[in-house]
Amino acid sequence: MYHFSPSILSADFMELGDAIEATTKGGSDYLHFDVMDGIFVPSISFGMPVLKCVRAKTNLFLDVHLMITKPERYIKEFAESGADLITFHVEATDDIAGTIDLIRKFDCKVGLAINPETDAKAIKPYLKDIDMALVMTVHPGFGGQSYIEECTAKIKQVSDWIKEENLDCDLEVDGGVKLDNLDKVLSNGANVIVAGSAVFKGDIEGNTSEFVKKML
Ligand code: DX5
Ligand code: ZN
Repeated sequence: MYHFSPSILSADFMELGDAIEATTKGGSDYLHFDVMDGIFVPSISFGMPVLKCVRAKTNLFLDVHLMITKPERYIKEFAESGADLITFHVEATDDIAGTIDLIRKFDCKVGLAINPETDAKAIKPYLKDIDMALVMTVHPGFGGQSYIEECTAKIKQVSDWIKEENLDCDLEVDGGVKLDNLDKVLSNGANVIVAGSAVFKGDIEGNTSEFVKKML
């Protein structure tokens, strides 16, 4: 099952409602929220109040990507603000297993992310316990960066582990994905695709439907 998850980080926040509607009309089923705390990553984005407003107006599957230190502090709030899936980083906490359990306790799906410089082995022991692995293909913190080619092998590695053990775990790729490198990402095993700048610049509905068409 393939899912397309436009990242609202690249949206014009004065037009956020219209932009989200355009992605929906274009055929996307997920929406990606990049939450940044200025510590785990250099920038600060948005948090629970924005998520709550969006949740009130859409049935899209809300895919929340926490780029925050000690994510366990905020799981309850993001769950109660309407997240369907909460992804946190292996690099951000000393208690990965406890944070997975906490997300489950609040009835959300669980995602676990790794940065480009983190060895894929860091995520391997948890693949059986999570709903989605997220392989970052840019250094987290900003939209509009270029895809890091060295990460392709990591997508393939994580995908192989999921297949070998026949696990029920999605594989999301986030960072620098455009129409011209989408095939490579998909053929290496990703089934959930994030794209920010490639969607929200120009014709949002048209851009979304181009991605969705290629993913079918
Ligand atoms: C980076 C974020 C990404 C980003 C993707 O820190 O996690 O989700 O918004 O944007 P593009 O597609 O422009 O790389
Ligand atoms: Zn993201």
